[in-house]
Amino acid sequence: MDHPKAVLFDAYGTLFDVYSVGLLAEQLFPGQGQALGLLWRDKQIEYTRLVTTSNGGQHYRPFWELTRAGLRYACKKLALELTPEREQQLMNQYRQLSAFPENRAVLKALKDQGVVTGILSNGDPAMLAASVKSAGLEGLLDHLLSVDSVRKYKTDPAAYALGVQATGLPAGQIAFVSSNSWDALAATWYGYRTLWVNRYQLPFEELGTQPERSGTSLRDVLGFF
Ligand code: LAC
Repeated sequence: MDHPKAVLFDAYGTLFDVYSVGLLAEQLFPGQGQALGLLWRDKQIEYTRLVTTSNGGQHYRPFWELTRAGLRYACKKLALELTPEREQQLMNQYRQLSAFPENRAVLKALKDQGVVTGILSNGDPAMLAASVKSAGLEGLLDHLLSVDSVRKYKTDPAAYALGVQATGLPAGQIAFVSSNSWDALAATWYGYRTLWVNRYQLPFEELGTQPERSGTSLRDVLGFF
């Protein structure tokens, strides 16, 4: 098979470590940091699906707001007292998530080969710009694509179509990279060449379709070339 001509990355969990907020969460709520990090992430994603699949998307709210709503839910569920100060601290931390250490070198290697690169994410444009800046990835990404422009979250096909529209390439010439198995699955269904970065030794989704490739770090994207 030919090399893909472009590589698009999911942002949260793939380039940026969403569980890195766990450290601050642990300081604020000793013994509950990990549980909070996990539930917060799950609820945030659940809310994206809820607003996209209900009533023609009329309940859409930007990812930043759903992230805050997910945090509030998770704290209530775990009976943690989320004061306005704590909420502010945790949300600020979400703006500056740690980036995975291999990101820069991999993006640079792709650029050196003349491959078009980008992010295709649920994150809203301000969140993506802040994360890219704090991770020092400016200049290494040709496209920062946010589903906010279509007000539909992944896995709606309108969200995945943004990559095709921005690059002018058919999906079959674009590699899509995600550490979220549901995202890698839906991108495969959409028609992208896919790499699932399995950072946490999880099983893949049990719905029959497999991603084209699986790996354990972003470095595995270089296997397409
Ligand atoms: C994103 C979420 C799904 O960046 O991680 O789109």
